[in-house]
Order: sequence, then structure tokens, then C-alpha cells
Amino acid sequence: MLAGLILITTGAVVAAEATSLPAVPEGPYRSDCGRCHLAYPAGLLPALSWERIMLGLTDHFGEQVQLSPQSTRAIYDYLLTNAAGRVTEPLSIEVMNQLGGDPAPQRITGTPFFRSRHDTAAIRQAGERGAVKSMADCAACHPRAGEASFDAGEVQLP
Ligand code: HEC
Ligand code: HEC
Repeated sequence: MLAGLILITTGAVVAAEATSLPAVPEGPYRSDCGRCHLAYPAGLLPALSWERIMLGLTDHFGEQVQLSPQSTRAIYDYLLTNAAGRVTEPLSIEVMNQLGGDPAPQRITGTPFFRSRHDTAAIRQAGERGAVKSMADCAACHPRAGEASFDAGEVQLP
């Protein structure tokens, strides 16, 4: 009985912490990859995903992304050091545990982890009334997305 209680408590603590990641530091990743959308915290996707994305920048969701060699090196360094699977953040561990069949998804918004957290009537209604153009626009609902904080308690649906 006691052991069961401890397990439940531990689970709750982990779940409560799985809402944020270390903020993305100033530098080439933040400025170059944050030009068109949020500079997504690396811990939201596995290293294989980031490698795949970096190798596909000539056709990046219909855009062409050009980087200097120096930026490319710094961005790889940030992404591969901080990717899910390489850090112990609870949020990154959940991403890895809920990858489903694809070991290198190119979209955070396509992962089973993301879908499970965003399958709510309120979000569907926000989409239906045209308030949210893309679920990839994290900051539309998470006011502190720029600080890599995604706590459900902070969400403000547009
Ligand atoms: C020229 C604009 C532009 C730049 C610069 C850019 N992206 Fe993107 N990116 C896009 C567009 C457009 C999408 C699709 C957004 C959507 O579906 O709403 C996207 C989507 C993404 C997604 C998937 C979002 C999701 O749906 O989960 C990731 C991850 C991503 N970009 C990473 C990067 C990285 C890493 C860099 C820097 C190397 C970068 N982007 C730079 C335009 C850009
Ligand atoms: C249309 C609004 C909307 C957008 C866009 C959105 N979210 Fe969310 N997100 C929510 C809501 C609402 C919840 C809380 C769902 C619930 O009640 O369980 C949530 C929950 C989360 C959680 C779980 C937090 C917790 O406390 O358990 C994470 C992590 C998260 N979002 C990350 C993201 C990321 C990363 C992006 C962008 C790639 C994003 N969200 C885009 C509305 C949004």
C-alpha cells in the first residue's frame, strides 16, 4: 500500500514537470531558426529528427533556408546536444516514450506526444473559428513559449 502511494506521488511529480525545457539560448539557432517561427526547443524532437531537418533545408516545408557555415555548425551543436534522448528533462523523456512508429518525425505537431496533449474540444473550436492558423505556432496559445514553457495552466486560447 505504502509502495503504491509512493509510486503514484512520483508519477504525479514527473507529469507536473513535463511542461518546460531549458530556454533556447541567444545565438545562431535562436536568430536563424527563429526567423519564421518559434525557435523550437531542441528537446521537443529526437536528434535523428533534427539531422533530417538540417539535411532538408533546401526544401523546408516549402521554404528554402540558407545558413552560413558558422551558423550551421553552431545550430547542429545546439540541436544535437539538447535533443530529446540526449537530455534528462521529463518533457523530452515523454517525447521519446511516445514517438510511435516514426523514429525521426519532422514535425513536433505530428508526434503522438504532441497529439495526445492537444486533443481537446477547446483547441478544435479555436481551429474551427479560424483563431489559430497552425498548431506549429506554439506562442499563439502558450504565452511563454519563447522561454520554452508550455504549462497547461498558462495556456490562453485565442
Ligand atoms: C524561411 C522561413 C523558415 C526558416 C528560416 C526556418 N523555418 Fe522551420 N518552418 C517553416 C515553415 C513555413 C514551417 C511549417 C509551419 C507550419 O506548418 O505552420 C516550418 C516548420 C518547422 C518545423 C515543424 C513544426 C511543426 O509542425 O511541429 C520544425 C521542427 C522547423 N521548422 C525547424 C526549423 C529549423 C531547425 C530551422 C533553422 C535551421 C528553421 N525551421 C528555419 C519556415 C522556416
Ligand atoms: C491552439 C492552441 C495551442 C497551440 C497552437 C499549441 N498548444 Fe500546447 N497546449 C494547448 C492546450 C490548451 C494545452 C493543455 C491541454 C490540456 O488541457 O491538457 C496544451 C498543452 C501543451 C503541453 C503539455 C503541458 C502540460 O502542462 O501538461 C505541451 C508540452 C505543449 N502544449 C507544447 C506545445 C508546443 C511545443 C506547441 C507548438 C509546437 C504547442 N503546444 C502549440 C494549446 C496549444
